[in-house]
Amino acid sequence: MAFTIVKHALIDHYITILRDCDTSPDLFRNAALKVSRILASAATQDLNTRDKPVNTPLEPYIGQILDGTVVAVPILRAGLALVDALNDIVPDLAVGHIGLQRDEVSAQASIYFMKLPKSATGSTVLVLDPMLATGGSANMAITLVKTFNPARIKLITVLAAPEGVAAVEEAHPDVHIYSGVLDRELNASKFILPGLGDFGDRMYNT
Ligand code: PRP
Ligand code: URA
Repeated sequence: MAFTIVKHALIDHYITILRDCDTSPDLFRNAALKVSRILASAATQDLNTRDKPVNTPLEPYIGQILDGTVVAVPILRAGLALVDALNDIVPDLAVGHIGLQRDEVSAQASIYFMKLPKSATGSTVLVLDPMLATGGSANMAITLVKTFNPARIKLITVLAAPEGVAAVEEAHPDVHIYSGVLDRELNASKFILPGLGDFGDRMYNT
């Protein structure tokens, strides 16, 4: 499996804003959007394309256009932070949703919602979740997505813990993970260190 840390000065800049406990919810949402633009660009750079003949004002030209459907699947709630960036750059993006909630004590994820488009079958599916902690949520979402037989699956995250990367690597070695940063470890409550706290709560000011 592949694990890519997307190195970029602006990712470092905006993740520092996300980590800062003095960052307001407005600024948090703004920084999340900026980070997700760069991650979205990195994770989509090898999408399949096909030849498309066009005429420039000067001569015929064989260009390239996107081949096939791309489906984004945010894991609710926090994954919604990554959708707008993909919608901006991927033509005719399809979006499915999977709602997962980590138990506050056990950190086990459980499902409360799923609606995926039929077009996920045979497509590139981008599973979106800014926090890869134990990997339980990502693994559950990827397993659900696989029931649709997509052509391939990528996971886009902002902060990853080594434990989460290892868990996804073991359960789904075919999935390529893109992350803004690899953090140090999980604490006893399964929160990422140094981390940024609860992404969903900070994003939605709850
Ligand atoms: C958070 C986060 C991830 C999950 C990561 O979700 O948004 O989905 O935890 O943890 P894991 O890798 O250990 O599964 P949470 O359950 O808090 O829901 P929320 O997004 O609605 O806040
Ligand atoms: N989910 C979060 O939002 N933050 C963590 O540190 C771990 C899981």
